[in-house]
Amino acid sequence: MTINILYAKSNRYQPLLFLWSLLSSSARSQAGGGCGSVNGTSSSTTASNSTSTSSSTQTHQLLSTPAAMVSSLRTRRHAHYPPPWFSVAPMMEWTDNHYRTLARLISKNAWLYTEMLAAETIVYQKDNLDRFLEYSPEQHPIVLQIGGNNLENLAKATELAEPYKYDEINFNCGCPSPRVAGHGCFGARLMLDPKFVAEAMSVIAAHTDAPVSVKCRIGVDDHDSYNELCDFIYKVSSQSPTRHFIIHSRKALLNGISPAENRSIPPLKYEYFYGLLRDFPDLRFTINGGINTVDEVNAARRAGAHGVMVGRAAFQKPWHTLGHVDTAIYGAPSSGVTRRQILEKFQVYGDSAVGKYGRKPTVRDVARPLLGLFHSEPGNGVWKRKADAAFLHCTTMKSFFEETLVAIPDHVLDSPIGEPSSGAVLLSRHVRLLAKAAGGAEEQKVKINCDTKKEDNNGSCSAAGIALADGPKPAKGSGFSKKPKGSGFSKKPKEVASQRSQRLVSSQRSQRKWLLKEAKG
Ligand SMILES: Cc1cc2nc3c(=O)[nH]c(=O)nc-3n(C[C@H](O)[C@H](O)[C@H](O)COP(=O)(O)O)c2cc1C
Repeated sequence: MTINILYAKSNRYQPLLFLWSLLSSSARSQAGGGCGSVNGTSSSTTASNSTSTSSSTQTHQLLSTPAAMVSSLRTRRHAHYPPPWFSVAPMMEWTDNHYRTLARLISKNAWLYTEMLAAETIVYQKDNLDRFLEYSPEQHPIVLQIGGNNLENLAKATELAEPYKYDEINFNCGCPSPRVAGHGCFGARLMLDPKFVAEAMSVIAAHTDAPVSVKCRIGVDDHDSYNELCDFIYKVSSQSPTRHFIIHSRKALLNGISPAENRSIPPLKYEYFYGLLRDFPDLRFTINGGINTVDEVNAARRAGAHGVMVGRAAFQKPWHTLGHVDTAIYGAPSSGVTRRQILEKFQVYGDSAVGKYGRKPTVRDVARPLLGLFHSEPGNGVWKRKADAAFLHCTTMKSFFEETLVAIPDHVLDSPIGEPSSGAVLLSRHVRLLAKAAGGAEEQKVKINCDTKKEDNNGSCSAAGIALADGPKPAKGSGFSKKPKGSGFSKKPKEVASQRSQRLVSSQRSQRKWLLKEAKG
């Protein structure tokens, strides 16, 4: 209803919706998807009515392809998993096994996506698959993202990945990297060829028992109208078994800007996402892009999103982001786990992983996802400098922790999950943006777990200097090991802890001052 009001108000899209509706209304009424009527006040009803009357036709049409027949026999293997209300985005070189191990130690319910794996990599490395596809059973629910533009390789890759029992196979249609998009039609460029994407999805679905999904942008270069997005979604969903789309709600610019700029320069257009929710009521949509806190996740879910995918924030601030997922999104009781306990478990994992493939992975590789674990906490800067120095000579996670964790106060290591170490009552511009796109909900006062002092160009909270640079970087400089070495996990003397908590109190005081000033301003 609220979404309809948005569209009724939004003259900008109405001519496009009208054209779309005229051009393809009969086809859409057969397939049960498509954009809503020009009359924003009644489109939702119209859409769902047409859907209910046409769903059997749609099933019939889909079953006429072999891929659909295979998919119709499937049972959803992940039925016993929590719903994918919250997922961590696929991020190349970030969401590797090491990160996912950490993420799962923090959140039991978040769905985890792998980095994108090119179909060719899987096919050419078929004698070495564990290195690319293996993961521990605790990582379920886990989704494999594959990329590619060759149907044969996509088929083989999916088949080779099948024994690893991923819970969903996702196809990348959103990556703007020249390394990907420049090599033929791959990544975001594929949005210009929905017919191929539908074929690829049918081929993928035919070679796996898992559900399949597409992750895409809202457009590419000048092909950025809502109408073109609808066309893509309609063609892919009506010509393949794809029922789940993850929408990174900004377009991709394929020429001239870097992948990192492609995640910040094109503006977020959440209204496209909410339009799809309205216009394709049979499909499942996950929103992605610029969503950084659990409050923003919950705002998007309240506005109707079936799922919310978080990328950079979940890597850059894993504790502050993932630490609230189980309780605030899934309603689970707090596990009370602390960072000390998590690191103890991570050490066991890390020491079994380091050097598993000759010189790789190194301690630096394995420890990289930890670098955001103490984001904005006292001792964080020192810990990063120590880590930077330790990477030069540590060969085990145990020695790495012994050398670095002395920088982190006990109260930080021992504070339980789900308790923000600092926070503030703020008007979140981001939540307002989401609410507005979803239909103009009232501005809300929300408690957000935002303890940083800058806003990025999406209006969302982000760490100073990190938002555009895409990730926590170890501080430069030599080691800072004036204190004697000790076990990383052993507690430090009380006085040290109390000095640190005094520093924390004073830093929180100045932070509160700043926040009050911001709120007034
Ligand atoms: C370092 C990095 C690597 C990424 N790699 C992929 C990838 O392999 N596949 C993909 O679909 N998206 C990739 N993305 C995009 C993210 O999945 C996500 O769509 C994007 O970061 C927007 O979400 P966010 O604003 O929550 O970060 C990557 C993003 C980053 C920062």
